[in-house]
Amino acid sequence: MNNHYKNIAEDFNKVWNFSNKYKKWAVEKIGYHLKLNNKDIFVDIGGGTGTFTNMIAEQFTPKKAYCVEPERNMCNIAKQYTNIKTICSDTFYFINNLKYKYNKILFKEVIHHIKNRNTLWNNIYNTIENNGRILIYTRPKKIKFPLFEKAKQEFYKNQPSYDLMISELKNNGFNVELSIESFTFKLQKKEWHNMIKTKFMSDLSIFSDREILKGIEEIENKYNTKFYNIEDEIIFINAYK
Ligand SMILES: C[S@@+](CC[C@H](N)C(=O)[O-])C[C@H]1O[C@@H](n2cnc3c(N)ncnc32)[C@H](O)[C@@H]1O
Repeated sequence: MNNHYKNIAEDFNKVWNFSNKYKKWAVEKIGYHLKLNNKDIFVDIGGGTGTFTNMIAEQFTPKKAYCVEPERNMCNIAKQYTNIKTICSDTFYFINNLKYKYNKILFKEVIHHIKNRNTLWNNIYNTIENNGRILIYTRPKKIKFPLFEKAKQEFYKNQPSYDLMISELKNNGFNVELSIESFTFKLQKKEWHNMIKTKFMSDLSIFSDREILKGIEEIENKYNTKFYNIEDEIIFINAYK
């Protein structure tokens, strides 16, 4: 990955913000799939600016909630929340050095950035409590967002397939369940185009400003509408020990 998250940290909450309704939906789904409760030690890997770790901690009041984020600029923003423990750390270091056992671990929109997944699943299997749960919140390789073709190809290239992750998890001893659910949000054309201009997704960061403008022109010609109904198809991979 390039310096995408370092550069975007300050604006991250503004540019990755579909709606409060969307955030609430995501938090509900995460709580449901992880069966979160007030006895849990909850870990949010790649928790970014802590927005979701904080919302999850508020709603489900786990005994402890960790936001683990390797990019310092993102992590420093997450430190504003006093109800969560934010740790600026590499994922593997955190998992293997936690003093207590944890039992719920979330990967929200981050699994495509993590290398050595087999080692990761193995390390988690050895450190998570019995009956502990992993939730991967991610997207399919073929994203439904109205993006230009080259951006879709880039997304496809970077996104691991969910079938592959499911078999990796099973091979490392986990039981696995899959569910696919969508949230559709409506955005004005200008809002969506502005999000693309800010290169809000890491997959957009490889394109020059000129290529982005050309891409927006391509989308405009294809969709020719005042609003976009944007379907965010989310893959929930739920693994338990
Ligand atoms: C799309 S953001 C998602 C942030 C947060 N989970 C959310 O939903 O708001 C991806 C985050 O993963 C972090 N990240 C990148 N590579 C990572 C890695 N190898 N391990 C853990 N986190 C990583 C980035 O710094 C960034 O904060």
